[in-house]
Parts: sequence; C-alpha cells; structure tokens
Amino acid sequence: MRTNPNKTLSIAVFSGKGGVGKSSLSANLGFCLSESGQRCLLMDCDLGLANLDVLLGISSEITIQDLLTLDITAQSIVQPVAPNLDLLPAASGVPELVEMDEDQRALLLKKLEPIISEYAFLILDMAAGLNPTLLSMARAAAKRIVVLTPEPTSLTDAYAVIKVLSTKADIRDFLILVNQVADREEAQTTHRRLDAAVEKFLGFKTHYLGMVRSDPNMGKAVAKQQALMRFAPESPAAEDIRVLAERLRSLRTALMPELIDKPALANF
Ligand SMILES: Nc1ncnc2c1ncn2[C@@H]1O[C@H](COP(=O)(O)OP(=O)(O)O)[C@@H](O)[C@H]1O
Ligand SMILES: [Mg+2]
Repeated sequence: MRTNPNKTLSIAVFSGKGGVGKSSLSANLGFCLSESGQRCLLMDCDLGLANLDVLLGISSEITIQDLLTLDITAQSIVQPVAPNLDLLPAASGVPELVEMDEDQRALLLKKLEPIISEYAFLILDMAAGLNPTLLSMARAAAKRIVVLTPEPTSLTDAYAVIKVLSTKADIRDFLILVNQVADREEAQTTHRRLDAAVEKFLGFKTHYLGMVRSDPNMGKAVAKQQALMRFAPESPAAEDIRVLAERLRSLRTALMPELIDKPALANF
C-alpha cells in the first residue's frame, strides 16, 4: 500500500502550433491557483525553446536539462515565483536534450518524483508539435489541455495533435481551451468545429474547458515580465483565467478518488 497517497493533479498543456498562448496560460493558471492557496509547480517542458522563466521574470542558471547531466536534486533547481507557486525552468536551445532517450526519461522522473508530491497541481508547459518525449509526457500526465485559437490553421493543427496523441499514445481524453477569442460564442463555435472533426474521424468526443478572450494586457504583461494576474488582475483575460482555474480546482476535487491510486506522473 502507498504510504503517501497521490494528491497532485498533473496537467500537460499542448497545442498544434506555437504562439497560441500555452506558456502565458500555463503561467497565469498557475498563478491564479496559487493565489487561491493551491500549491502549484510549473514545469517548462519546451526543452528547445523554453520561456516560462522569461514570462515570469525569473532568471535561472541551472535548469531541468542539468538534472540529466549533473549530480543534483530537483529541489535544487526549483525557483520560487510567488507564494505557493514554483517553477522548474528549462534551458533554451539545447537541441540534444529535446529528445531524451528512455534512460534519461527514467532518470528525470526519478529526480522529479520526490518534489512533485508537495504540490496540488503540476502544470507541464509543452512545446508545440510532438516528439517522442512529449508523447510520453502526454501519457504520463493525468490530464491534457489542448490550446487553440479560432484561426483555421490553429484548428487543423489542434486536430493533428489530438490525432497523433490518440493514435500513437492511445489518449482519448482532452480538455479544449480556446484562447484569443472575441467572446464565448466564438470559443464555443471553435470547439464545436474541432469536436465535430475529432468525432467524425477519430471516433470520440472532446471536453470544452473554457475560453480566454483576446486581451492586449496579455502582451503588455509579458513585456513587463509579470503574470497577467499581477499586472492587470481586472482585465478580461485575467477574469477568464480565474474561471478556468476554478474549473481546474473542481476537476481536481472530482478526480481525487482516482488520483490517490496513481503516481502524480506515470512512467514516461
Ligand atoms: N488571450 C490573449 N490575448 C492576447 N494575446 C495573447 C493571449 N494569449 C497569448 N497571447 C500572446 O500570444 C503570444 C504567444 O503566447 P505564448 O504563451 O508564448 O504561446 P505559446 O506558448 O503557445 O507559444 C504572446 O505574445 C502572448 O502575449
Ligand atoms: Mg510556449
């Protein structure tokens, strides 16, 4: 019997193409959850083009990649961002580590395990597109969010990612987050289009998680290297992110009976 039942909800944030808002949303969802008292760990899994540290105004010398090559613990690379919010930063432009082999993945997981259990949420900010490492991380996480925007190319790219994850990793459980929308109607229409394609060609349904409106404050916050929730807490996008964070909290509560029997991050 496990002496420490798992209480961490791990969520991997995907998209088909870059620039749809994965990192901004991961960072701000983490911020929002932490403000409501939930301990949250952000992990920058974009090992080729990391930027969560920049978004949050953190500079770090040692990164996730160093866990694989140096005799150090995960605890030693954790960066505090705000009360209840920590970051596992990655280095940019280390192409040889974008694709880890099985031994490296096992080592990373072994080093991460002792710290993950300290958190209510683990948010994995993924790279755009998919490689074998991202596929196995997708499988390892308890839940997956796919971010897309209403642009037609974003829709086809989101469909492509869902197709690969379902055919190659046997995943059929996706939460859809539509970013940069004018209003709720546009978000729901976008989700319906994606869902119709997934149902027709892949044979299952996706779940609508919610939407974030297009908001110039998002870009302004990035320029200031601040979370939007700090920079403009009353802005439309911040309001939407609070609603999403609340849904994730309810989701964690609802999933708790299933989570306790599993590791926070399954083998990847
Ligand atoms: N809701 C939004 N409204 C306006 N701009 C946004 C919104 N979400 C993200 N952005 C902007 O889009 C750009 C890409 O966001 P980013 O989070 O880096 O995407 P990704 O991680 O998917 O590549 C950034 O300049 C960010 O400020
Ligand atoms: Mg990103």
